[in-house]
Amino acid sequence: MRPEPPFHQQSFRPPSSWPYPRWWAHRGAGRLAPENTLAAFRLGARHGFKAFECDVKISADGVAFLFHDTELERTTSGLGVAEEHTWAQLSQLDAGGWHSPEHVGEPIPTLSDIARFCFETGSDLNIEIKPTPGHDAHTGASVALETARLWAQHTRMPLLSSFSTSALEAARGTAPHLPRALLLDELVPGWLEQSLELGCSAVVIDHPLLDTTVIAQLHAVGLFVMSYTVNDVDVAEQLMRWGVEGLITDVMDRAAWPAGPQLR
Ligand code: G3P
Ligand code: MG
Repeated sequence: MRPEPPFHQQSFRPPSSWPYPRWWAHRGAGRLAPENTLAAFRLGARHGFKAFECDVKISADGVAFLFHDTELERTTSGLGVAEEHTWAQLSQLDAGGWHSPEHVGEPIPTLSDIARFCFETGSDLNIEIKPTPGHDAHTGASVALETARLWAQHTRMPLLSSFSTSALEAARGTAPHLPRALLLDELVPGWLEQSLELGCSAVVIDHPLLDTTVIAQLHAVGLFVMSYTVNDVDVAEQLMRWGVEGLITDVMDRAAWPAGPQLR
């Protein structure tokens, strides 16, 4: 039997069928810079990334901003539930000092700031809608509306994803033209049907849940497969052999990937 070619020379689908790059920088630049800040995006871009994942919420006065946790404490100088603050309050916080002295004073970016970065660098964006529990529909609809407004003059749309089916449903109601992906950290009964009912283009699955059966099920119904958070070269090689289209990673340094991932 002939040995398989190295993973970076393999192709599993015609490149034109998956509209985005294969590699996505998680939260901007993984752990190398404060997550979900412009500093992280700039660092990810310096490492060659052309596609970025980020988490987005809505402030108390309706501004879409990048943020992961429900509460402000871990990654900012603020206190309390992030979405309960106005943008005037959030914009004053230090979202970099927790990470390292060189990033002290780094602000929380708005989605509009990140859209500008994407247009300037020609980057793709995966916007994970991250509602505060109980705010799912409001956050989904508001993030979709703002995304549609920001990208109105562009042809390549960001991919909206969420663990929240209510948020994705609301996003579809507001901006049905934006591609959607259901995020899965477990394969709950009916997960495939749910992805199809939401009109998703892709699913984004925690990588230990993936195997050839799951991937075949998804491809058979025309859904693309993305996986998070892939920080190990052996795992990445296997997922690529299996035909996974998108890999979200914290590992920015190409030298850490012996075979050199294809960043585009
Ligand atoms: O979108 C994939 C990944 O970001 C989901 O997990 O907690 O890092 O937002 P989390
Ligand atoms: Mg995320």
